[in-house]
Amino acid sequence: MKNICAIGVGYVGLVTGACMADLGNRVVCLNRNQQKCDNLKKGILPIYEPGLEEIVQRNLKAGRLSFTTSYDEAMEDAEFVFVAVGTPSGDGGEADLAHVEAAATAVAKRIHQPIIIVNKSTVPIGTGDWVAGIVRGAMPDPNIPFWVVSNPEFLREGSGVYDCMNPDRVVLGSTNREAAKRVAALYYPLHAETIITDLRTAEMIKYASNAFLATKISFINEMSNICESLGADVKEVARGMGSDSRISPQFLGAGIGWGGSCFPKDVKALAHMASTHGTHPQMLRAVMEINRDQRKRFVTKLRHILGGFRGKTIGLLGLSFKPNTDDMRDAPSVEIINLLLYEGAEIKGYDPVAMENARRILGDTVTYCQDPYEVAEGADALMLISEWNEFKQLDMERIKKSMRRPVLMDGRNIYDPRRLRELGFTYRGMGRGYDEAGQPR
Ligand code: UDX
Repeated sequence: MKNICAIGVGYVGLVTGACMADLGNRVVCLNRNQQKCDNLKKGILPIYEPGLEEIVQRNLKAGRLSFTTSYDEAMEDAEFVFVAVGTPSGDGGEADLAHVEAAATAVAKRIHQPIIIVNKSTVPIGTGDWVAGIVRGAMPDPNIPFWVVSNPEFLREGSGVYDCMNPDRVVLGSTNREAAKRVAALYYPLHAETIITDLRTAEMIKYASNAFLATKISFINEMSNICESLGADVKEVARGMGSDSRISPQFLGAGIGWGGSCFPKDVKALAHMASTHGTHPQMLRAVMEINRDQRKRFVTKLRHILGGFRGKTIGLLGLSFKPNTDDMRDAPSVEIINLLLYEGAEIKGYDPVAMENARRILGDTVTYCQDPYEVAEGADALMLISEWNEFKQLDMERIKKSMRRPVLMDGRNIYDPRRLRELGFTYRGMGRGYDEAGQPR
């Protein structure tokens, strides 16, 4: 059992803190918001993440997990400090390190015993060295040893607990191999492949991994556009490609593209780092451009079908950036809604869990509905935005009857084009080729 302080209670901080406690460590999670902290002490989470509430409550009860707003309290026994604070995009796309700097300073001031600072936030290459400098400058007793280890987190929202407990690999970067090994020991029960490297390389692994996944999606989206022009079905193409073990079927889902709290911010930050260090990130720029275009393309297709949006009612199924999360950060829905509103459409929408967050961003520009059937009522078109399971087996006959015009835009290619055509829908997926009559589907 080790004593761990985890700073930040977002997806990474809370999932890591709770999982570390579940592995038998004593974890104090720190955040500066009193209300959030009070709620967490009662087991009420600030985020929606399947399975996390149970782990938090179980470990609260067992006394291994606690929450505080006080650095003094959090640092009292800490042997490891996990830094998992936000690194939002700055004006030029660079990662904003204000929270990392504040955390490093606050930790440094309270170092009273040897400590390992484990950075889990996605930070620009070189931040580990920079943090070490801040800590060195701010600690009261410069003779106490401390080490900085970069330990990027690869969890996905919606399956964060599973990903944290079943990592494909644990990446640890440090100037001190012994320190990295001590962090590796915390993950020992997970039996994951462990990669120990230097600080900058570990930081780069995180960016390169996210950029690669985003590239894979933009690649298949470009293929989907080509498929659309040439009459091939991108779903079958992805299946055919993905069964080559060198390619793998994952992240080959064509659609309206990637959003969320990581890919957009990290690809932008990596491109920014490249260009400010004399490298032209031409592929990363294309990856971002394809992703932006994909959202517009979805709207353009519908415009062609409806002949414009003025006076039309468009229903959106799913508002979060992907299923199983309430996260609306860089959600394609927001840009799509803004495009539609600009051209005079009325918007109705429904999401299984993201309605409250959506309301915060979109206000009353959207009529929020109780379920997909209410969204469909009187709509001129439905747009499937995020592929929640509950949208996969809808009563399509009922939906068709209640719509003003049965148009279904499938932004994630979850429906069978032939079946929907048979039911009388005008269906459009993303890159689904031609139907028997040579019409796009
Ligand atoms: C991602 C990384 O997967 C994770 O390793 C990292 O730690 C954080 O960023 P996350 O943003 O939670 O995780 O979700 P992810 O499942 O990767 O999806 C990201 C976006 O890509 C979503 O908008 C999703 O809809 C989209 N996506 C994903 C596709 O468009 N097609 C796919 O095939 C897969």
